[in-house]
Amino acid sequence: MNTCKKVLLLLLAAALILCCFTGCKKEAKTLTMGTNAAFPPYEYYEGDKIVGIDAEIAAEIAKKLGRTLVIEDMGFGSIITAVQGGKIDMGMAGMTVNETRLQSVNFSTTYATGIQVVIVKEDSDIETIDDLMGKKIGVQESTTGDIYASATPEDGGFGEENVERYNKGTEAVLALTQGKVDAVIIDNEPAKAFVKANEGLMILETEYAVEDYAIAIRKENTELLQ
Ligand code: ARG
Repeated sequence: MNTCKKVLLLLLAAALILCCFTGCKKEAKTLTMGTNAAFPPYEYYEGDKIVGIDAEIAAEIAKKLGRTLVIEDMGFGSIITAVQGGKIDMGMAGMTVNETRLQSVNFSTTYATGIQVVIVKEDSDIETIDDLMGKKIGVQESTTGDIYASATPEDGGFGEENVERYNKGTEAVLALTQGKVDAVIIDNEPAKAFVKANEGLMILETEYAVEDYAIAIRKENTELLQ
C-alpha cells in the first residue's frame, strides 16, 4: 500500500468515526410533548401508550427535526407552566389559543377547530344553553370550558358556584352519568367519543363557542416555532 492510499484510508476512518458521533448525538436529542391524555381522539391511552391525532402530528414534527419524541402526561392546567419553564418543548393537547395563554407562550399556526358543546343525559330537561342557568355544570379544570362556564352571568357564564371542576374530561362525564352534575361543557370531538362510550348521554345541538387549536411553545424557542 502506498502512502497516498494509507492517508486516504485514514481520512475515511476519521470521517466514519465523526459521522457516527454526530449521528449518535442527533439520535439522543429528544422532543418532549406535554399533554393531558384523556381527550380522545386527540390524545388517549391505548394500553400504556399515548396515541391520537396530537401524538401523530408530534411524531411527524420529531421525525422532521431528527429527534426522538417523548410524551409526558400531566394535568391540563400544568402544561403552559411546563412549556414556560422549559420542562417540555411543546404543549399539545387540543389546546385552544386565547389571549391569556398568549401572554405566557407562543402558539404555532392552528391545525384544528374545536367547538365547545354541552353534554346532558338523554332524559334531561336542558334543551338549550339558556336552560343551563342555575344547573350544576361539570368541566375539566383550566380548560376554556371551565373559563367560560365559571364567568359571571353578566360575562356570559353561569357563575363559579355552579361549576364543578374535574381533573379529566372523563371524570366530568362520569359525574354526569352518576347525576352529580346536570351537564358537561367540553370540546366536540371528545364529547362525541364520551357519548359513544356511555349509554344515555347526548350532545345539545347549540354550540357554545368555536375555537382554534395550536401547539404551545416557549416564547424564547423561536426555532421550534418556525
Ligand atoms: N380546548 C380546550 C382548552 O384548550 C380543552 C383542551 C383539553 N385538552 C386535553 N388534552 N385534556 O382549554
